[in-house]
Amino acid sequence: MVVVANQKIAVCPGSFDPITWGHVDIIRRAAAMFDQVIVVVMINSGKHPSFTAQERVEMIKRCTKDIAHVTVDVYEGLLAEYVRLKKAHAIVRGLRAVSDFEYEFQMALTNKKLNQDAETVFFTTRAENMYLSSSIVRSIASMNGDISDFVPACIHDDIKKRFSKKGS
Ligand code: PNS
Repeated sequence: MVVVANQKIAVCPGSFDPITWGHVDIIRRAAAMFDQVIVVVMINSGKHPSFTAQERVEMIKRCTKDIAHVTVDVYEGLLAEYVRLKKAHAIVRGLRAVSDFEYEFQMALTNKKLNQDAETVFFTTRAENMYLSSSIVRSIASMNGDISDFVPACIHDDIKKRFSKKGS
């Protein structure tokens, strides 16, 4: 990523386990508003993801390859520190429902406390993605359900392979 002076940089952090159409939509809309968007897979040692960080990075790259000015990264540590490191202007998060708000509000305030420059910008999700989450995708895939409406086609096989059960 080449950073040019005065360019506005947004960081889109998440677990992306795996990336969904909901994430792609938020990334696309952030890319239309900011000069550079860094999608960052945050490693949380307390979580046990279904995909490795590198797998998630690869899937995000495939799903966002048509969106200009988007780069994909991975980071283990505080988001507030990552924002400082990248000299980013905003953290972008999608808001699906009121139930997301409390957690997101807490995260935004914490990040601001840790780094005064870490402003969080919320994008309201598109109505069709209101119910969508990575955990819903994992749950459907683990029961051999059809995930084709929830994630881009370029990662269907990765998800099917990861969750395919022997003998089914
Ligand atoms: O996709 P997710 O799981 O909702 O993303 C949550 C994420 C990764 C953005 C959040 O857990 C995070 O920022 N983790 C990094 C650790 C951190 O900075 N914690 C303090 C702020 S809450």
